Amino acid sequence: MANINENTRYLRLGVNIDHVATIRNARGCAHPDPVRAAHMAVKAGADGITAHLREDRRHISDRDIERLNSEISTPLNLEMAATEEMLAIALEHVPHASCLVPERRQELTTEGGLDVAGASPGLASVVDRLRSAGIRVSLFIDPDAIQIKAAQAIGADIVELHTGAYCEVALEGDAKKTATELDRIAEAAQQAAAGNLEVHAGHGLTFDTVSPVAALPQIVELNIGHFLIGEAIFGGLDSSIRRMRSLMDKARTAASGVQSA
Ligand code: PXP
Repeated sequence: MANINENTRYLRLGVNIDHVATIRNARGCAHPDPVRAAHMAVKAGADGITAHLREDRRHISDRDIERLNSEISTPLNLEMAATEEMLAIALEHVPHASCLVPERRQELTTEGGLDVAGASPGLASVVDRLRSAGIRVSLFIDPDAIQIKAAQAIGADIVELHTGAYCEVALEGDAKKTATELDRIAEAAQQAAAGNLEVHAGHGLTFDTVSPVAALPQIVELNIGHFLIGEAIFGGLDSSIRRMRSLMDKARTAASGVQSA
C-alpha cells in the first residue's frame, strides 16, 4: 500500500467559474452571474470555488472576488499572478488560498506552469507575504522534479500540477504519449507528497480525462472549469458538476481498492 495519509482518501473538487464571467462580459451586463454559478456549484458538490483575477480582467472582476469572498462559505481559491497589484488584492480579501500562476497577456489560457526554479526572489517574497496573512499558497507548476524542489524551497504549502499536456494528448487519442504524460504527473505527485507539499492538479480536465488523475492517491484536489461550464450549456451546471464529482469518486474508490488489496 502506498504511503498516503488520511486526507488523501477524499478528493476535493474546486470548480472554476471564470468562464461564466467570460459569457457575462461578452455583453457587458450582469448576466450570467458567476456568484450565482458558485452557489449552484456548491449545491452540486463543489468543495471549493476557484476564480482567476487576471491582470486584463477579461473574465473575473474585482467586484466578483469581493462578492465570492463574502457570499460563498466554501473555500475560495484565488488564482493570480505574483504581482504587487494582485498581492494587495489578496491581502485585502484574505481568501482561503492563492494559487500563483504565470500570466501572459496574449495567451488564451494559462499555457504552462510557473517557472519557480528560474524565478526572481520576488516570488518567494510574495509567497511569504501571503502565508504571513494566513493564506495558503499554491504554485501552479508543470509536473517536473526541479519545479517541485523549488516550490518546497520557497515554502509553498501546495503545488498544483498542470494537467494540460496530458489532456491534450489524451484527447488526441495518442495512447503512448498519454501514458508518458500520466506517468509524469504520477511521479511528480509522489515526489511532492513525499516532500510534504499538498498536491492539487488541474487544467483541461474533462469527463474523458479526469479518472486516471483522480486515481492518483497523493492528489487531494482537482480544479476544473472550462469543460464544466461548457458542458453546462448542454445539460445544466448542476448535472455537469455532479457527473464530474461521480467520476472522481468512482476513480478514487476503485484505486484505493486496488491499493489495499
Ligand atoms: N488550475 C489552474 C491553476 C488554472 O489556471 C486553470 C485555468 O484557469 C484551471 C486549473 C482550470 O482549467 P480548466 O478551465 O481548463 O478546467
